[in-house]
Amino acid sequence: MIEATNLIKEFRVTKKESGLRGALKGLIRPERETVRAVDGVSFRINKGEIVGYLGPNGAGKSTTVKMLTGILHPTSGEILINGVSPHRERTRVVQNLGVVFGQRTQLNWDLRLGESFELQRRIYRISDDRFAAQMDTMRSLLGLTEFENTPVRQLSLGQRMRGDLAAAMLHSPSILFLDEPTIGLDLTAKQAIRDFIREVNTLHQTTIILTTHDLEDVEQLCKRLIVINHGRVVEDGPLEDLIDRLAPYRQIEIDFVQEVPVIEIQGVDVVEVNGNRMVLQFDRRAFSAASVISAVTQRAAVRDLSVREPEIADVLKRYYQDSA
Ligand SMILES: Nc1ncnc2c1ncn2[C@@H]1O[C@H](COP(=O)(O)OP(=O)(O)O)[C@@H](O)[C@H]1O
Ligand SMILES: [Mg+2]
Repeated sequence: MIEATNLIKEFRVTKKESGLRGALKGLIRPERETVRAVDGVSFRINKGEIVGYLGPNGAGKSTTVKMLTGILHPTSGEILINGVSPHRERTRVVQNLGVVFGQRTQLNWDLRLGESFELQRRIYRISDDRFAAQMDTMRSLLGLTEFENTPVRQLSLGQRMRGDLAAAMLHSPSILFLDEPTIGLDLTAKQAIRDFIREVNTLHQTTIILTTHDLEDVEQLCKRLIVINHGRVVEDGPLEDLIDRLAPYRQIEIDFVQEVPVIEIQGVDVVEVNGNRMVLQFDRRAFSAASVISAVTQRAAVRDLSVREPEIADVLKRYYQDSA
């Protein structure tokens, strides 16, 4: 349904000058250089999938989304959306796509939200019946009624995002690209957006490509992750597989009755000590939590303990750290 093959996108940019050239800035002709924002990305996404497209800032996520949606032309490589190339047949492909950029609204600041939807209806030539039906669905999923008559510039960020989502869905696209749709929102607003994404996916089997830095979004929504770093795909697979492969450990946080010396158990690492608290980590393929707990309780009196499974953050840490 979505096929990207060896996508490359380069930008020509003005080189940042330093030293003597920096001091002479404005007098000399600036040097230009080529940066490769996307460097050979390939993947296939099937109908109905919710895929998390993740990676640190500057990894090339938005550039990929812009190519997939026909906004940018790839420098090279091939994209097929239901067999059709978005940059060669943009008008045909966009009928099937919805896009939301959390950082930048697609709505018109000068219109009321409802008027923005009306504009969308005309752009996509949505029939009256279909528009009315889709508006009903969006109103009930996103609770739009209370601010439909508010000018877009006066909407709160959460309301604006809900408006953007509705606008992107009015022509009933079968694929929805969401680029940081929860950025800057409070917890309640974030949850509303997540519930919406899940609903849309179950109701219509809508394929969703979600870019986010919010790991709760990923945890709640994405079965599959594609991770990119420096413009390349570094991971692609089910969330559980990534955790199994990249974070095959488990941690036990122990609260001892009193401060104890560091506990030494073969194959178990002490990763944190803080007063009476100690965090142990072990390979969960080699040890059961029960065996570690029993070894610990034989050595010292335990007040409380909890077992912590690795999560998505533990998997992504390595990529986010090396680029930070
Ligand atoms: N229009 C552009 N002109 C020049 N460089 C760009 C442009 N858009 C993106 N880039 C560069 O490409 C890289 C990837 O950007 P982007 O796709 O926005 O990353 P992400 O969305 O993962 O944070 C960055 O180094 C960014 O500065
Ligand atoms: Mg981005």
